[in-house]
Amino acid sequence: MSEEELKELSYSEAIEKATASISRFPLIPVRGVPLMNYIANSWDSIWAFRPDPSDLLIATYPKAGTTWTQEIVDLLLHNGDAEACRRAPTPIRSPFLEIVSPPPIPSGLDNLKILDPPRIIKTHLPFQLVPTGFWENKCKVIYVARNAKDNMVSYFYFDCMNLTQPEPGPWEGYLPKFMHGELSWGSWYDHVKGYWMEREKKNILFLFYEDMKENPRREVERIMRYLDLSVSDEVISRIVELTSFKNMKENPMANYSCIPTPVFDQSISPFMRKGEVGDWRNHFTPEQLKMFDQDYEKQMKDVNIPFRDNI
Ligand code: PPS
Repeated sequence: MSEEELKELSYSEAIEKATASISRFPLIPVRGVPLMNYIANSWDSIWAFRPDPSDLLIATYPKAGTTWTQEIVDLLLHNGDAEACRRAPTPIRSPFLEIVSPPPIPSGLDNLKILDPPRIIKTHLPFQLVPTGFWENKCKVIYVARNAKDNMVSYFYFDCMNLTQPEPGPWEGYLPKFMHGELSWGSWYDHVKGYWMEREKKNILFLFYEDMKENPRREVERIMRYLDLSVSDEVISRIVELTSFKNMKENPMANYSCIPTPVFDQSISPFMRKGEVGDWRNHFTPEQLKMFDQDYEKQMKDVNIPFRDNI
């Protein structure tokens, strides 16, 4: 899209205009990783993306705490200025690298074009599919991981309400799809392991959703130090407050109300759903838990990532 075309329509208007082309898009594997067909069909241009060395990448498996981290980083870069961080909705302030949707919805690459570096770039791509320019240019990368069970519960509700994702079907059938890596962006297990194993070599800041819930101030400070920033204690307190679940749920520039109902039907399940650790207990039957835990042991036996599923 040209910059003129991009400026003509707001993000929400562009999505409304594309309503007739919205459906639950099929997944196509890209180097073995199932991705939405629109992404797979544009793969060459995504893979060729060259970031600026000052760009920051926030990488996650879907539903691990991306939006929360995007908001914290934007506030840190703006010294806790809430108004500045309400200049636009999350996907415009912090574009989603690989997302491609039917026209006239701007792609992630379109949204990146109109921003000057340093940019806060979101991705769900597994490590091996991150465009190599990020590593060549030594970009900073924050990875956020969430325990598998809560991550899956959150993804299940998201797949119910995001009408561009494949039909999730009932919960009992969703479990094996998650375990076999059949959901968009592939296997949770491979995703977390991929970044974990490279974190030291590639200077990736590896965060846990559970740590952010337990002690948000400590984690905001870790992010600040990683970004070589220094903000006052008072600003840190403000950022912690502004990025609480409750405040982000009410913030129209952070709660994804910018994405209209034909894509995100928040009457099915809100984007800001519960924001808790341990909600998985309300979903797994004892049999499902046993099966899941046994399989987890097998899939994660080669690493020792300190996940916690309660705090
Ligand atoms: S996405 O679509 O992949 O970008 O989603 P993502 O932002 O990674 O994950 C959404 C889940 O994160 C929860 N969330 C939060 N939890 C705690 N505090 C804050 N501030 C916060 N913001 C978002 C959101 O509610 C989703 O989790 P669930 O468990 O579904 O509530």
